[in-house]
Amino acid sequence: MPKPLLTSGQVSILLTSSIVFVFTLVLFLSGYVLQQKTVHSLQAAIKPRLPKPLPAPKPIQPPTLDVKWARPVGGRPEVDETFEQYMAEQTLNWNRLGYAQVVREHVELCSAIMLLGDLHRLKSPAKRILLFPRSWLKEEDEGWNPELMTTRRLLRTAVRRYGIVLMPMETIIDGADDSLPSSYSLASLYSLTEYERIIHLQGPGMLLDASALDSLLAFSKSEPMAAYPATPERKDLSTSLLLVHPSIEDFRRLKDVRASKPMTDLDLFRQSFSVPESLISKWSLSMGNVIYESPSLRDAIDGFNATIFEEATAYVRLSDPEIPGPEYDVPYYDRVAIRPNNNEARAVWEKLYERFRQRRMEICGLDLEVWTKPMLQAGRTDEA
Ligand SMILES: *[C@@H]1O[C@H](CO)[C@@H](O)[C@H](O)[C@H]1NC(C)=O
Repeated sequence: MPKPLLTSGQVSILLTSSIVFVFTLVLFLSGYVLQQKTVHSLQAAIKPRLPKPLPAPKPIQPPTLDVKWARPVGGRPEVDETFEQYMAEQTLNWNRLGYAQVVREHVELCSAIMLLGDLHRLKSPAKRILLFPRSWLKEEDEGWNPELMTTRRLLRTAVRRYGIVLMPMETIIDGADDSLPSSYSLASLYSLTEYERIIHLQGPGMLLDASALDSLLAFSKSEPMAAYPATPERKDLSTSLLLVHPSIEDFRRLKDVRASKPMTDLDLFRQSFSVPESLISKWSLSMGNVIYESPSLRDAIDGFNATIFEEATAYVRLSDPEIPGPEYDVPYYDRVAIRPNNNEARAVWEKLYERFRQRRMEICGLDLEVWTKPMLQAGRTDEA
């Protein structure tokens, strides 16, 4: 009997090794394929992509801007200058344009954050800046101070949720008592020299439309001061809306004037800037209510239309003089006594106060403040 070429043991070894070989090959091949795939996808990722065709250039950035508000401040309409030419000269750098709020007391902080937060919600491309006393950042050793804790919580919210830039400010007179609200001034707006133009709105109020204000900020000429006029006669400036070009010279000048004697910010600005040169031009304000004061709703006549009013108004300052402000819980009968008689105007008025209350809860997590009606109806110290 011829000897078999392979013993059964050898056969099984051979079989096993060929199985191992086949599996190794399969493993190798699949590994190779995988690797090639990875290399291809890596190459695809590294390879510069063909740029998508750009959308047609838009003359105005961002799209929320409203051309009808695009009027240079202080300037006369120049007949030979088309809008396009005017735009071409403007280099819009939104990092150099901003809205700034100045808070001096803890109770003002929420309203300032609400306004800046609403600018964020309405997608304003400008920077949002909050000036507040530097002393609020000092470590307290008097123990637990609930007011300061709320303030610190709100400052964190301002940064995290609304991208607000925090700017601690010094007292306007060097060495003044940093715990007194009266030691701080709107003149600190002039210290923000990294910005080309700044809008300050006097609070508290409700923002209805950011695009009108954005356009005012974007298309205005830089001037030391362009203030909202106190009256239609344009004899005085008010602090309801300030459009300023910060500069260290004006900041020093205002500090010097303020150091000469105690005065309100309104008096400081009236003394330091002449009218009508330092007023926003009539032309800039001719397209609607950039600023509206809530007590004016009481003068509404028949035919007042709430829809049209809301569309034509950018900002309503809630400034009814009989009550301390929309942050306070005013008893029903006191509200009834001061609300507008005209049905449409009353609906607007009540909606604004109610929306303020809701936004305060949403943004700051705060209820209305308790208000005890003063026995003697002293008018609210009002600067506008
Ligand atoms: C207000 O104006 C709008 C738009 O013009 C119109 O649709 C609405 O009916 C008006 N409302 C009243 C009460 O007249």
